[in-house]
Amino acid sequence: MKSFYIETYGCQMNVHDSEKISGILGQLGYETAATETNADLILINTCSVREKAAQKVFTRLGQLKTLKNGKPGMIIGVCGCLAQQEKDLFFKGRPYVDLVFGPKNIAELPSLLQQLQQERRQLLALSGPRQEPTFEVQTVTRESSTRAYITIMEGCDKFCTFCVVPFLRGREISRHPHSIMEEARRLVDEGFVEICLLGQNVNSYRYEGFDFADLLCSLNEIPGFRRIRYTSPHPSDMNAKVMDLYGSLDKLCRNVHLPLQAGSNTVLHRMKRDYTREIYLSKVEYLKRVCPEIAISTDIIVGFSGESELDFQQTLDIVKQVGYSSIFSFKYSQRPFTAALKMEDDVPEEVKSRRLTELQEFQKQSQLALNSRFIGTIQEVLVESPAKKGDGQFSGRTNCNRIVNFQANEEKIGHFLTVHIDRATANSLFGTLSL
Ligand code: 5AD
Ligand code: SF4
Repeated sequence: MKSFYIETYGCQMNVHDSEKISGILGQLGYETAATETNADLILINTCSVREKAAQKVFTRLGQLKTLKNGKPGMIIGVCGCLAQQEKDLFFKGRPYVDLVFGPKNIAELPSLLQQLQQERRQLLALSGPRQEPTFEVQTVTRESSTRAYITIMEGCDKFCTFCVVPFLRGREISRHPHSIMEEARRLVDEGFVEICLLGQNVNSYRYEGFDFADLLCSLNEIPGFRRIRYTSPHPSDMNAKVMDLYGSLDKLCRNVHLPLQAGSNTVLHRMKRDYTREIYLSKVEYLKRVCPEIAISTDIIVGFSGESELDFQQTLDIVKQVGYSSIFSFKYSQRPFTAALKMEDDVPEEVKSRRLTELQEFQKQSQLALNSRFIGTIQEVLVESPAKKGDGQFSGRTNCNRIVNFQANEEKIGHFLTVHIDRATANSLFGTLSL
């Protein structure tokens, strides 16, 4: 039997693409290899959103080259966004890379592997920006036994000036609602209690007259699910119709990821984010009014072209006002094809680093304070998996997406249990199962 090993970089879309790839390979008779050393097929599912993520892939490929020297029959493939970006350049100087395919070419994998067996030459499979992605994949090998991802749309039409995604994932295409509902019902039959809707710009979903809020309402009607989440939305598409659902849909989880990127209107304008800090804050206020316990997380870029100290302070000011449950923060790096390439990357590296540290330090303290407020409370937790640390600890999430660790056993996975919170850190809560 042949075995495969996939390494995934980047966002949730990539994680789910790897689940689809694993499903396809399973159907072809491949089994999962525990490590890359004994795999017959190694795939690197790449990310290009930041320079650092892209650089890591090239370093990793160098290591795999050495591995392949000792095992010449091994197939090495590169997929995902960086594959779409680099195209056949990936092959240049890398004769050990056998296969390069884009995010919309996953379904072609069986025929590509067959072709590789017949003629050992480097194969390339890429799509055009308007090509329909394959939303329906027969078998998906899912990483979690409780949460299932469903792709509802692909691509992005926003063209934020710092972002390479629209050039690699193509134009926005929404999946037919029937097809989404069918997958969701199948997932209930398979025992999943939580679904997470995925899309590069998930809340701009629209299929003819049927919009994102309509989809959430339809999914809420499916018996069997207990929790519905989604990622990543854009603040501009976060309209009242969607926000009101936080007060009425019982399965819609009380957390939302609302990427801010920057807190200054001049920077937001240069980023082409098409909202102002005032509009953003008014949406946060609206959400908190409809659902006072809502947990809000965000993405922030520091050191974008022309970002002054005052601009950065305005970002910090919003961070202080909102009280985010978590922040993914990054130093700006220029990406190919983007409009911001024409702007000077003029914030010095050490200034970017200092701003990032300042933001992260503030956020760490703020998260610790927010999480500490849960000490002494009882929380309903969906038990998901053994905790990373081991020691008989298991890990789950509250409705608001807070991670909780507690002593339990395998049988509890998939159950909703009540946990007494004893202790908090900046990133998680610790508690005891309450009987
Ligand atoms: N530099 C730094 N961060 C970036 N992101 C996207 N493009 C860049 C870039 N060029 C961040 C944004 C986005 C997240 C997925 O990655 O914050 O929301
Ligand atoms: Fe990139 Fe902006 Fe589209 Fe998000 S909305 S994927 S940041 S272009």
